[in-house]
Amino acid sequence: MKSESTAERILGSMSSESVSTRNQEWWKRSAIYEIAPISFQDSNGDGKGDLRGLIGRIEYLEWLGVGAVWMTPVYPSPMLDFGYDISEFCDIDPLFGSLADFDRLVGELHRRDIRLILDFVPNHTSDQHAWFNESRSSRANPRRDWYVWRDAGANGGPPNNWLSRFGGSAWAWDEQTGQYYYHSFLVGQPDLNFRNPQVRAAMADVLRFWMRRGVDGFRVDASAVLAEDELLRDDPPNLKADESTPPPQRLKRIFTDDRPESMLYLEEFRQVIDEFDARMLAGEVQGKTDRIGHFYGEKKPRLHLPLNFALLDSPWDALSLQANIDAYLKAIPDKAWPCWVIGGHDKKRIASKLGQAQLRNLAMLFLTLKGTPFLFAGDEIGMEQVEIPREQIQDPFEKLVGGFGLNRDPERTPMRWNGERHGGFTSGEPWLPLGADLLERNIKRLRDDKHSLLWLYRHLLQLRRQEPILVDGEYVPVRSRNDILVYKRADRSGEMLIALNLVHEPRKLHFEGRGTLLLSNRLDRASGAVECPSLLRPDEGIIVKLAH
Ligand code: GLC
Repeated sequence: MKSESTAERILGSMSSESVSTRNQEWWKRSAIYEIAPISFQDSNGDGKGDLRGLIGRIEYLEWLGVGAVWMTPVYPSPMLDFGYDISEFCDIDPLFGSLADFDRLVGELHRRDIRLILDFVPNHTSDQHAWFNESRSSRANPRRDWYVWRDAGANGGPPNNWLSRFGGSAWAWDEQTGQYYYHSFLVGQPDLNFRNPQVRAAMADVLRFWMRRGVDGFRVDASAVLAEDELLRDDPPNLKADESTPPPQRLKRIFTDDRPESMLYLEEFRQVIDEFDARMLAGEVQGKTDRIGHFYGEKKPRLHLPLNFALLDSPWDALSLQANIDAYLKAIPDKAWPCWVIGGHDKKRIASKLGQAQLRNLAMLFLTLKGTPFLFAGDEIGMEQVEIPREQIQDPFEKLVGGFGLNRDPERTPMRWNGERHGGFTSGEPWLPLGADLLERNIKRLRDDKHSLLWLYRHLLQLRRQEPILVDGEYVPVRSRNDILVYKRADRSGEMLIALNLVHEPRKLHFEGRGTLLLSNRLDRASGAVECPSLLRPDEGIIVKLAH
């Protein structure tokens, strides 16, 4: 009896420990849903979404089954760059509501077990920020060194050849104090000087401010560009560039991107995150897959989840996908937790690239690969790029570097809640058009159809909760053949096979053993035995629990 109760005690403490690890690491289990509040739901008829509107839509998020919301910036801002030009880090722009609305949002989300992640934009402020006003007021101002100021180059022009991502020199002349300041993005987005410890301390306090208000994590904006080369060495030409390359990409960003110092600053942010319980740090990293690994950290941890865009960038065929998945998993450290992004406010809607029929495979793929899935509001209803008439263009990228297909408005258009006027998004004039396919693709219509893409998302998100193997199980590659992408997830309890037919024709699937169908992406097959060979219909993907 006695030893039994000891065993029970040990078991009991083990399970409570694992429960607490699970809670600490909620971001491994949760699908993360990016929302640009300006495009989600308007509550006051000004044509732009706001926090009250979002609060009114939490029921939908719960129904869908996402575990966390990542919100793009809602801080005070002149809104030159979709709110990424921040004039006050610890407040809410009246366009979106108030701090009281924000607190309500946190409470309402948490009540439904949904976490909240904020965008954290450390690299730059708006030129309207009080810090910058002080900094530019005189060379002697104590905040002068909070930004990157330099004398003119030898010829009287900018200090070197660095280019702004949004076009032109990255240096802007300040008449009053007779120096240039550095801006990686817009002239109205001066870069903070991260070499200054006071700046780092101030930004650490911004993180603490929001974590004390209950925020569960952050997505660090432009995390690779926090520091630039101290010697101001000029960037070399990009030899692959030609006339069709947007001018800002005609130099290779050797001395402005991914400098070793930026990594140290990420380590400092991570330390601040770890002062609090169960928080998460994700981050936007520039560059291709081979540059992701070190963002996780080496001796010291950096980001929990450097965002991985490999699925968005991959050609859509079984062999390319199996290669790109493999390359990414090899590029991250052994113990690192993967993540998979299929959409975002800077990325073209993938629906326009893959076509509607393959979106079901995409959903099944990124929700069954090992790692944290990220989607952008509207991906679950197959929203496509919306055509923006010239006079309605909002994105500064397109205005400044026009004609290269860089406009980000087409993916940022408002959410469609129903097929009525302006999709139920606003009673006023929407800030961007809703798109011609509103009647075909809106939440109400797809929610009413139990075989829709939206319901597939809901089923997959439910399955991830019911089958821990889909979260914690190992990813086991299988040789993909016959246009079918195949892999397994495995743990001590067993194995699951995922097979996705990536062409619009039927294909025969060969696999070892037999199993039970858990889900077909068409949502029209009853669960039942699956034997080898098995016929997959055009564009069909299945999840099979293997019998041993
Ligand atoms: C990031 C954001 C992008 C913004 C830029 C400047 O890349 O994702 O939307 O324009 O930073 O802040």
